[in-house]
Amino acid sequence: MPHAVEVAGLRKAYGSTVALDGVDLTVAAGSVLGLLGPNGAGKTTLVRILTTLLSPDAGQARILGLDVAGDAERLRPRLGLAGQHASVDELLTARENLRMVGRLYHLPRRTAARRADELIERFDLGDAADRPVKGFSGGMRRRLDLAASLVNEPPVLFLDEPTTGLDPRSRLGLWEIIERLVEDGTTLLLTTQYLEEADRLADRIVVIDHGQVIAEGTGDALKERVGGQVVDVRVADLAEVEHARSVLSSLAHETPTSEGALLSLPTDDGVGTLVRAAQKLEAAEIAVTDLAVRRPSLDEVFLTLTARDDQDAAP
Ligand SMILES: Nc1ncnc2c1ncn2[C@@H]1O[C@H](COP(=O)(O)OP(=O)(O)OP(=O)(O)O)[C@@H](O)[C@H]1O
Ligand SMILES: [Mg+2]
Repeated sequence: MPHAVEVAGLRKAYGSTVALDGVDLTVAAGSVLGLLGPNGAGKTTLVRILTTLLSPDAGQARILGLDVAGDAERLRPRLGLAGQHASVDELLTARENLRMVGRLYHLPRRTAARRADELIERFDLGDAADRPVKGFSGGMRRRLDLAASLVNEPPVLFLDEPTTGLDPRSRLGLWEIIERLVEDGTTLLLTTQYLEEADRLADRIVVIDHGQVIAEGTGDALKERVGGQVVDVRVADLAEVEHARSVLSSLAHETPTSEGALLSLPTDDGVGTLVRAAQKLEAAEIAVTDLAVRRPSLDEVFLTLTARDDQDAAP
């Protein structure tokens, strides 16, 4: 499959802050790439470069075969962007906002009006279409923002943290809208801080931290990389947590994490680790109130991936 997006050796610094430190990635045409990273990882910087809003210091990025720096004018009408912060006009109504975007893309007045009506219908904004945006909820704003990014029917779409700050129901609604878009063949790059979101929407996930790609693959592959299971140990006495951690640390390939009296050990062999943990704790005379094997949560996968990077970066 041809690549709709090709990025090689991209670098960008703001003064002494290195935001992108040599990023390489590709997005196959018609596929969804999830760009996953914590605050400050460089996600927005990458999206702004790819949507021609910011120029890179070094490296190359081509979209639909066009260079983001050299062919920006030709490329811009083929791209859609819903930024991290809503870009709609608060004083205008939803319908007026969408018509205005259409006019910015030089659509004839009538076409712009028809496009606005279609998008209002599709994004379930009918009831609020003629009210000023300043009274909209967060979920309605995000839907309107996404609608605005589609006015020009872009073949390549960028969504920068489309669901951050939304409640679970609004998030689910937006996921369904995004999935329908993708079924229609749009190539999508979306950034997120949630592995769950990347896992649900993306064909491939690229994890970035400190401006570098630290992992990539499918959601399942990333989960596997962290180890298949977690053993939870709850110690009876909070004062014994550090003692228990040192006793257990030889059993797992990561240092056990803890929250209160609960220690968690990532492992490939849940039951075997559980048995050995019980023996070691008993030998050390550490009393436990709970001992269990479970699958890792997505948050743990993400924390482990980004923590690994911190260890690598340490001197
Ligand atoms: N205009 C700017 N001036 C100076 N530094 C900046 C600017 N924009 C971003 N940075 C810095 O560059 C780094 C990457 O920022 P970026 O906004 O790309 O991260 P992000 O992954 O989008 O984070 P978030 O999840 O918080 O949106 C951060 O250290 C940030 O502080
Ligand atoms: Mg950002």
